[in-house]
Amino acid sequence: MQRGLMMSVGRIAIWAGAALLALVVVAVSAIFLVFPRVSAAPDLKLAATPEQVARGDYLFNHQFACVGCHTPELEPHRFSRLFDKARLGAGRHMGGPADGMPAEIYAPNITPTALGGWTDGEIYRAIVSGVDKDGRPLFAMMPYPSSYRIMDPEDVKALVAYLRTLAPQPVTLPAMQLPMPIPIAMRFVAKDPAPETRPDGKDEVALGRYLAITGSCFECHTKRNDRGEPAGTPYAGGNVFALPAGGVARSANLTPDAETGLGNMTRAAFIDRFRSRTPEEMAKIAPEAGDMDTEMPWTAYSGMTDADLGAIYAYLRTLPPAHAAVVTYEAAPEKQR
Ligand code: HEC
Ligand code: HEC
Repeated sequence: MQRGLMMSVGRIAIWAGAALLALVVVAVSAIFLVFPRVSAAPDLKLAATPEQVARGDYLFNHQFACVGCHTPELEPHRFSRLFDKARLGAGRHMGGPADGMPAEIYAPNITPTALGGWTDGEIYRAIVSGVDKDGRPLFAMMPYPSSYRIMDPEDVKALVAYLRTLAPQPVTLPAMQLPMPIPIAMRFVAKDPAPETRPDGKDEVALGRYLAITGSCFECHTKRNDRGEPAGTPYAGGNVFALPAGGVARSANLTPDAETGLGNMTRAAFIDRFRSRTPEEMAKIAPEAGDMDTEMPWTAYSGMTDADLGAIYAYLRTLPPAHAAVVTYEAAPEKQR
């Protein structure tokens, strides 16, 4: 009797286990079938006018700072990063578990060597929807969810036109091995874009908002939740970045709070801060062991126009001041005496 009961309980457990497993398999297959909810790549054939390519150059190398991830760095420099102009778009290693990342992360080669077989529409879709040629969702370190989703279609086309003109770079970086559940999670992150029209300079604040979002200022200067999504007070800073030589940098509070944010920074001082970090200025600094570095791609942004930097400043002034003190540089503990 007892024994029979035990057996049936055991059998029920096995059946329940099998049913659960089947459910999980069905659920995961359903996720793979239904997500990502991304439409077919747009049917595009860009004529790539010289104006479009010049615009893409400005966007890639300065305004959107794509160069910051997709180009190898020369020696890490204090306060900024110097990108190897001879290898634009060749990609680079961005960090790994030692820097708190889930795996070794690579921003891939996006020169014609790598994207030669992609259509214009497939490159367009990768930038704003976050899937590769075959529809595989991209790891969201590529800031498509919070920065590029709203990009003006004319800006995206200029980028694609420019990418086609990059010198081919015969570099193959290792494939990323993202641990579960990240590849599944990314299926919910990649989705169709929500394009906005880039405001013209007449509405400076609206233009500044567009630039601050698409230029990743929002993405980096807003605290993230444990899924890596910006979730804190917008632009109040505090994201932590491990630095190659040890120690950390934290993104600054960009809201107009007088004590802990940019409240006392004039427009001219704001623009000057960027101009003091051009590649030419940075090349004058000889990096020494223990110098602090920063994740912010200052050298890329330093080439933005006064009008664009001024618009970002004007927009940041309209934010509610957030009282949030941030220590932007902190040396590794063993280096603090
Ligand atoms: C913060 C770093 C970062 C920035 C900034 C960035 N990317 Fe990426 N990008 C990545 C990473 C990492 C991947 C790889 C994601 C993956 O394979 O899962 C990627 C993938 C891509 C791909 C797909 C390539 C492939 O082989 O699958 C394209 C195209 C691309 N990026 C273009 C751009 C453009 C254009 C910009 C600027 C508008 C940009 N990226 C800005 C990190 C970045
Ligand atoms: C990859 C992350 C990242 C991105 C993208 C980024 N920042 Fe930063 N930012 C930081 C970090 C980290 C610091 C603190 C260290 C330093 O000064 O570089 C910082 C500091 C600053 C400071 C200095 C504040 C002070 O009081 O010293 C300003 C101003 C600033 N960022 C503005 C911007 C703007 C505007 C954008 C967009 C165009 C932007 N940042 C994009 C990470 C980022």
